[in-house]
Amino acid sequence: MKMKKILAAGVLCCMGVNLLCACGKQQMSASDKVHVGVACYNQNDTFISELITSFREQLNGYEREDLETRVLIRDAAGSQRTQNDQVEELINAGCNVLCVNLVDRTNTSEIIDLARENDIPIIFFNREPVAEDLRQWDKFYYVGAYTKQPGVMQGEMAADLIRENSQIDRNKDGKIQYVVLEGEPGHQDAIVRTESAVDTLKNNGIELEKLSYGIANWNRAQAQNRMEQMIGQYKNKIELVLANNDDMALGAIDAYKKLGYTEANFPVFFGIDGTDVGLKAVMDSELAGTVYNDKEGQAGAMAKLAVALVSGEGMEDIEFEDDKYIYMSYFKITSDNVSSYVNEEK
Ligand code: BGC
Ligand code: CA
Repeated sequence: MKMKKILAAGVLCCMGVNLLCACGKQQMSASDKVHVGVACYNQNDTFISELITSFREQLNGYEREDLETRVLIRDAAGSQRTQNDQVEELINAGCNVLCVNLVDRTNTSEIIDLARENDIPIIFFNREPVAEDLRQWDKFYYVGAYTKQPGVMQGEMAADLIRENSQIDRNKDGKIQYVVLEGEPGHQDAIVRTESAVDTLKNNGIELEKLSYGIANWNRAQAQNRMEQMIGQYKNKIELVLANNDDMALGAIDAYKKLGYTEANFPVFFGIDGTDVGLKAVMDSELAGTVYNDKEGQAGAMAKLAVALVSGEGMEDIEFEDDKYIYMSYFKITSDNVSSYVNEEK
């Protein structure tokens, strides 16, 4: 009998503790709810959409009994005005930290004011605000990748390939006739990638002749269009296509295919990003090489920082440059290492 009483008391006690726990769970404090609002410049952008998929997965990995994570995503479809409204909407919806992929890197004032008025930290990503804007508040951060590095790597890969394959210089004039497909003017990555790739080729002793360039705003269809025009003008004189990203390199290949060129008459193509389609094109030997833009690394840094900013824990484990910046490194990808890379990925 006595035993039964003790048992019963024990059971009741456990129930009480459980109830307490349950209540505790319902009364999670605001710092245990990481509600992230993601505002992106254009979700049709291949790299951005893959980065966001990875961000969702990695943020979800922080979910615990006492930590809730949620993500709300808005797509500005290329309009800064739309994005300003979406940022306000995300704040009103209860997001307590924002990840902003600006449409216009130089037009941040409205978003900056909204964040400060509502005391919501912002992690800018992929499209870097000007330094003065980022310095306006200690709760602004930037996560991205080094700007010069991928161009240097693209140039080194191209130089190696040209040295090893004399047939790339199709007209045997000792020079490589090339064209460039450029990303959006004004984007921190576009001009720097082109300049550092071309400088690196020259520094490696490759003689170059620039035939033309096309601005294709990171976009495959626009790149195809620009490339068709350049092919129309230069016929089979083009020996090398340097593209600021994989989508534009693939657009250039689309153009050659559409105009009925056979592979023997293709120039060599280089991209940057290592998106799923980009890696596949390296596997299929359509792209001579790409440079891996570490979206998993960037998404992981964003998730970790978002959790730290809201929960107040883990900030000391994050390494910043100039107190605010996190930059990821790139990796070269050619047919030599792509297969292990694709496998590692999946
Ligand atoms: C990527 C591009 C992407 C752009 C968007 C760049 O860093 O390489 O593929 O379109 O960011 O801002
Ligand atoms: Ca030549």
